[in-house]
Amino acid sequence: MTPASTQAPHQVKPVEGRTLRDVCGLFVTGVTVITAGMGEEAAGTTVNSFTSVSLDPPLVLFCLHNDSRLRPVVESTGAYAVNFLAGRQERVARAFAGKDTAAITDVAHHSSVTGVPVLSDALAFLSCRLVNTFDGGDHTIFVGEVLELGVPRQSQEPLIFFRGFLGALEEEPRGVHPIFDG
Ligand SMILES: Cc1cc2nc3c(=O)[nH]c(=O)nc-3n(C[C@H](O)[C@H](O)[C@H](O)COP(=O)(O)O)c2cc1C
Repeated sequence: MTPASTQAPHQVKPVEGRTLRDVCGLFVTGVTVITAGMGEEAAGTTVNSFTSVSLDPPLVLFCLHNDSRLRPVVESTGAYAVNFLAGRQERVARAFAGKDTAAITDVAHHSSVTGVPVLSDALAFLSCRLVNTFDGGDHTIFVGEVLELGVPRQSQEPLIFFRGFLGALEEEPRGVHPIFDG
């Protein structure tokens, strides 16, 4: 008999949350900090559930757990920024991932067009107006229209998340042709 630790995960319904998280952890993603609110209310949360949705109109989404401190801030102001973290920002990712999360004033930031703070050292940012929310079980799906975007510094490598580990993407992918060319 194969020892439990060497068995490949294979489950049919009911799927356990822990196993779902482990298997989804094999899908490599970038890491973002979602920022929202202004002044005293400004807050940030580390999120990897970001994806682009539509080019015309320009829509993006992320999923936030229903108990998140950030949820009422995004819902009340109707605006947020998605900050793509750079490879050397692992500490920032961790700082905004705990229940005792960092304050926006702990990191270099400036205002976007909506007044929401943008992390100045991020790889790139998208400043969004909240256009829709959808029930996503224990999470809420937030869809935003992109009003402003920027890449503050060219050629920074991204921070990536894989199998529960954070790290810099050391090398450029070596494909000859881009998979999308238009
Ligand atoms: C790499 C990484 C990705 C995360 N992605 C998400 C996510 O997509 N949605 C989410 O709700 N929480 C995500 N979290 C967990 C939140 O960052 C964490 O629960 C949160 O900071 C807790 O405080 P809050 O009240 O600000 O949400 C992620 C954490 C890490 C380290």
